[in-house]
This record gives sequence, structure tokens and C-alpha cells, in this order.
Amino acid sequence: MNFRAITVILFLLVTTFTSSFGLFTNVSLSTIFNENKPLVGFALTTLGKILNPTAASTTQRPAGFTSKLTKLLASVLNIPPEVYFSTHQHILQQGYPAEEHFVVSPDGYILTVNRIPGPRHSRGRSRSADVVLMMTTTISSSSDYIVSSPKYSLAYLLADAGYDVWLGNVRGTREGRNHTRLNPDKDRRFWNFSVDDVARYDYPALASYITRHAGVERIFFVGFSAANRCLFMSASAPNSFIDKIRLSVSLSPALGTEQSSPFMNVFTKIFSEIRGVVEKFNGGQFYHGNDFMKSLIYIACSDRSKLRPLCLRLTSTLMGGVHSGYDGKDKLAFALNSLMSGTSNKAALHQAQINTSPVLRMFDYRAGNMAAYGSEKPPAYNLSLVSAPVALFVSPDDRLLPIEGLESLKKNLPNVVVTHLIRQPDFGRMDVIYSDTAKELVYDHVLPLMKLF
Ligand SMILES: *[C@@H]1O[C@H](CO)[C@@H](O)[C@H](O)[C@H]1NC(C)=O
Ligand SMILES: *[C@@H]1O[C@H](CO)[C@@H](O)[C@H](O)[C@H]1NC(C)=O
Ligand SMILES: *[C@@H]1O[C@H](CO)[C@@H](O)[C@H](O)[C@H]1NC(C)=O
Ligand SMILES: *[C@@H]1O[C@H](CO)[C@@H](O)[C@H](O)[C@H]1NC(C)=O
Repeated sequence: MNFRAITVILFLLVTTFTSSFGLFTNVSLSTIFNENKPLVGFALTTLGKILNPTAASTTQRPAGFTSKLTKLLASVLNIPPEVYFSTHQHILQQGYPAEEHFVVSPDGYILTVNRIPGPRHSRGRSRSADVVLMMTTTISSSSDYIVSSPKYSLAYLLADAGYDVWLGNVRGTREGRNHTRLNPDKDRRFWNFSVDDVARYDYPALASYITRHAGVERIFFVGFSAANRCLFMSASAPNSFIDKIRLSVSLSPALGTEQSSPFMNVFTKIFSEIRGVVEKFNGGQFYHGNDFMKSLIYIACSDRSKLRPLCLRLTSTLMGGVHSGYDGKDKLAFALNSLMSGTSNKAALHQAQINTSPVLRMFDYRAGNMAAYGSEKPPAYNLSLVSAPVALFVSPDDRLLPIEGLESLKKNLPNVVVTHLIRQPDFGRMDVIYSDTAKELVYDHVLPLMKLF
């Protein structure tokens, strides 16, 4: 039995169900309970709405109820205010200069970019010529790079070393929920995007804003996990910035096509079949790491929670390894809340499609491929366009990237300059970015390498 695949499916089903719950209660339960037991109906509908604020237009709950409930939970259970902090607030709290920028994609999504323009306790504005764009997975928030304390987090280490650090967010995450025309809480069209759109629109828009604003020609790129795939995909975009990259530091660089399990195959088939139905229930939004969900994750996974071992096990299984360096300060809960920020059904399905195909392809519309692309199969991405120098930092215990996968990745990318296998046998995928041990095992090799480019 493939435990990872099962938990992935469970996770997807649970999140789909919880985000579907809002409409589900609206459609059936609240109509049953509305007349006779208005309180029960109200309670159920409200719970649904808390879990799925997207369906807000169909709710009768008073405005601000979710935030009131979250506040109540937070005060009764002593949840620290930092759990709800934005990336910007976290950076300021650590004593670093911080700027918040808003980048508009060509199709109207407004993305937050967090800038750390200088070292700790400086006034910022060091006007460094060394600019670095750091990106994380398509479901995660930019806070990924600052979950650890300044001594152990790559973003802070780079800022202290004189780099001009920019942490980007993509559409659908907590910091990517705005649009020039569409309302993410009301308009399903907001959620009509796949990973293709992130790579085609968001990445080039972020890079072009940053080079313009910082006044540089070329930048460093740091990617974690799926961000590397997005970068490689973005090399095919019309306004690709791949030739403006001095060096791409690719942390845990699996394409996702390296391994395919029968369970993922079944899941992808089922999700493809029922996406239309799921869409009706959750409005196209696959997951939303709102304050309420953040509270739940904190309650379940904080250091004092009895469920913490289960959290650790699930996270480890889902993400291919979580080992040491998560002790103290509720690190695991913060990591999970940052990791699970938000995305669309379509992007989640695309991710599943990628995981079950040996070739990196665009979104599979199946019967609709002919109309969308003029071919039976979606077009494949051409990795030989990735001309930028790439440094691969690979965890030995990364279950998403088996060693054969690494070989094929190295063969397909034309300009791999370094392959660094991390020297700790049980070092996992998530450890590269969240674990305190990553400083010594990874970042101490990243910084000297960047000096050479
Ligand atoms: C949800 O309930 C409200 C109020 O009862 C109703 O107006 C609305 O049409 C319902 N939504 C759906 C999708 O059934
Ligand atoms: C979304 O962007 C618009 C236009 O820039 C801005 O006026 C609005 O305040 C933003 N909304 C949020 C919730 O950030
Ligand atoms: C979603 O976008 C695709 C093209 O990207 C378009 O063909 C389709 O009609 C859109 N669907 C909805 C519901 O807007
Ligand atoms: C991929 O891109 C390279 C470099 O531009 C080109 O030579 C090659 O023909 C492309 N391959 C495909 C299958 O399009």
C-alpha cells in the first residue's frame, strides 16, 4: 500500500469536502431545518460559511461572524496573534526593514510581494545590485521563507548578507486574493486558473516588476519545490525572464512527473469527472487558509497539542519528509499554515494531472483539448528552453524525487551548474525550507555559490 498516495487523496477529499460544506448545508440541511429549527439551520449554515467563505453570497449569517468566532477561539485557547500575521508583519516583528508591493498580472490578478530591502535593524534601502526573487509552491504563502527565526531562515540570511530580497506570492493564496475586476469571494471566474496561468502570467509579471523597481537587469531566483517547476514552465511564456536569471537556486526541485502511483491515477480520474459538481459546491476554490482554518491547524499542530505527532506524520507523508529542527515556538503549526495558503480546484487538479503523467504538460481538458489547444493531448513543456544556470539542492529522503527522477531532470535541463546532494540521510523535502538544520546543511552552501554568479 502506498501510504503517501492514500494520505494525499484523503487530504484532497477532506479539503474539498470542508470547502464544499458551505453550499452543501445551504442546499440541503438549512432548507430542512430552516422553518422548524432555525437555530440548527443557522448553526450549520454558519459552519459551512466559515469553512467556505467563497459562497458568502448565499449566507444569512451576520457580517463578521467568522472573525468574531475566530477571535473567541483565539482568546479562549490562547492562540498567539502571530498565527494571523501577514508576511509583512512577521518581517517587521523580527526587526527587518519591510516593504509591501502590489503587482498586477496581465489578466488582472493583484499579487502581494514582500520586500526585505536590507539587513536586520537597518533602515533598508541599501540599493543592492544583488536582487533575489524567492518563490514557493503554488498553494503556499511567501511566509514560507521566514517561518524559521532569522538565524536559520534563508530570506533573512540573504538580507543580512546584503541582498535585496523579494518574496513573491501567486494568485489564489492568502496574499494573492485580489483582482482588478473579480471578487474571489463572489466570482467563480477568479478561480478559473491552472498552474499554466501562474507560470505564464504571475511569474513574468513579478520578475518584470522587480527588475524595473530595483533598477537591475538580472536577478537571482530561489525556488522551493513546485516553484522550480513553475519557473521552468515560465521559460515558455511569451515574456519569459529566464535569460534574466543570474542563477536559479532550486531547492527540492521535483517536476512532479517522476513518480506516479495507481492511487493518484484513480484520484485524478475521479476529480476530473466530478470537478463540475465540486465546483458548484466550493465555487472553484480548493482551499482557503483563512483565519479560522489557521486557528484549527494551530490548535491541532502546536507544540502543546496531543495531535501533534499525527500532524507531523501526515505532513511528513504528504510532503516527503519532515525530520528534525521543528522544536519550539510552534514551528510545525506555522510551517503548515504557511504551506497551506490557498489555490483553485483547477490548479489542484492540474497538480494531480502532473503527478500522474510522465511528461510535463499543460492543463488536460480531456474532450476539450481539441478546442483549447488544437490537439488531442495538451502541449508538453519544453525544458530545453530553461537557459538559466540552475543549481539543484536535493534532499536524500525526498520521496517525490527518486534518484532516477533526478537523473532525468538533470538530462532535460540544459544548464545545470551544480547538483548538491544534502549530507544527512534522513533530510526530507520540507526540511530544506522549514527546518533549523537547513542553515548548516543547505544555506551555508547556497550563499557562497551565489557569490560566483
Ligand atoms: C442558499 O440559500 C439561500 C437562502 O435560503 C438561497 O437564496 C440560495 O439560492 C441558496 N443557494 C443555492 C445555491 O441553492
Ligand atoms: C484590492 O485591490 C484594489 C485595487 O488596487 C484595492 O483598492 C483594494 O483595497 C484591494 N483589496 C484588498 C482586500 O486588498
Ligand atoms: C475558464 O478559462 C478557459 C480558458 O482559460 C475558458 O475556456 C473557460 O470558458 C473558462 N471557464 C469559465 C467558467 O469561465
Ligand atoms: C525545444 O526548444 C529547443 C530550443 O529552442 C528547440 O530546439 C526544440 O526544437 C524544442 N523542442 C520541441 C519539441 O519543441
